[in-house]
Amino acid sequence: MTTNDLVTTAQALVAGGKGILAADETVPTVTRRLDALKIESTSDSRRAYREMFFTTPAIAEFISGVIMQDETIRQRNSKGIALADRLAQEGIIPGIKVDNGAKPLAGSPGENITEGLDGLRERLKEYREMGARFAKWRAVIAVNDTLPSAACVTVNAHALARYAILCQEQGVVPIVEPEVLMDGSHTIERCEEVTANVLHAVFNALFDQKISLEGMLLKPNMIISGMKCTKQASVKEVALATVRCLSRHVPAAVPGIVFLSGGQNHLVATAHLSAINQLDGPKPWRLSFSYGRALQDEALKAWQGKNENLTAGQRAFYHRAKCDSAAALGKYTSAMETESVAA
Ligand code: 13P
Repeated sequence: MTTNDLVTTAQALVAGGKGILAADETVPTVTRRLDALKIESTSDSRRAYREMFFTTPAIAEFISGVIMQDETIRQRNSKGIALADRLAQEGIIPGIKVDNGAKPLAGSPGENITEGLDGLRERLKEYREMGARFAKWRAVIAVNDTLPSAACVTVNAHALARYAILCQEQGVVPIVEPEVLMDGSHTIERCEEVTANVLHAVFNALFDQKISLEGMLLKPNMIISGMKCTKQASVKEVALATVRCLSRHVPAAVPGIVFLSGGQNHLVATAHLSAINQLDGPKPWRLSFSYGRALQDEALKAWQGKNENLTAGQRAFYHRAKCDSAAALGKYTSAMETESVAA
């Protein structure tokens, strides 16, 4: 793969109002989500759950790529077709989560460092052979009055850049995900301050390690109030702060910014994305979504682990993806919630 191929893939992932489904929860995380609805978590039930999303009719209108995790990319459907190949048949680009999770950062109580660099080159080679054309690595930054520490920001930025350049070496587009958590009682101003510092450190590290900015995507948090903050910012305030922060810290050469939902309610995540895209002023990157929970929650509830509910689950997913895709074009209205469910 040449640098041109990386650029083509990165651009395709954010083309025409499309976005990414993050379906890369680790086995313990997806098990927690299934347990909450009393659905037994086995490798078969997890495959059925993922297949519900991957085989939703016409979903490629709104979804450009899917992030899988190790178990899923190795699974095959009942016809013996690898799930990654099944996605590619639909015109959806297969992606893979390659970090090994956030682990306690020695010397910094309450903070984490994402691990998984050892052996990453070999794992990327293998995933690419299985069809993956993009990857994801998530760094997690906790916020309070004193956190994050400078050490936490520096080491996570460094690891993100090490991961990103290894991806590009192997012909895989890196999605660089520095997530400033919304857990906590911090204000939107504090979220903006911390996110600014983190993005500054991340792009410094990416520059130092010679990343092709044109061949990557950024997956940041939106600038929002902490979940327990007594003063919750309005949709317009979130949109303004998010675009301001990104325009100060993300080079225009990056083709796309795909937000995580981070625990926002699905309707709020859609409204925020649309408001961001509706703002006037220069926005040199495509602004789209790479949601996990905000894309999956309604479908999971409709499905309940039952075969007879498969169509209901797929309808819920199609609806949410359609709304998020409209939001990526700044064209979402709350009226869509009733119109497209009925359609
Ligand atoms: P959420 O949208 O549920 O935050 O998940 C996105 C993701 O990929 C987190 O790493």
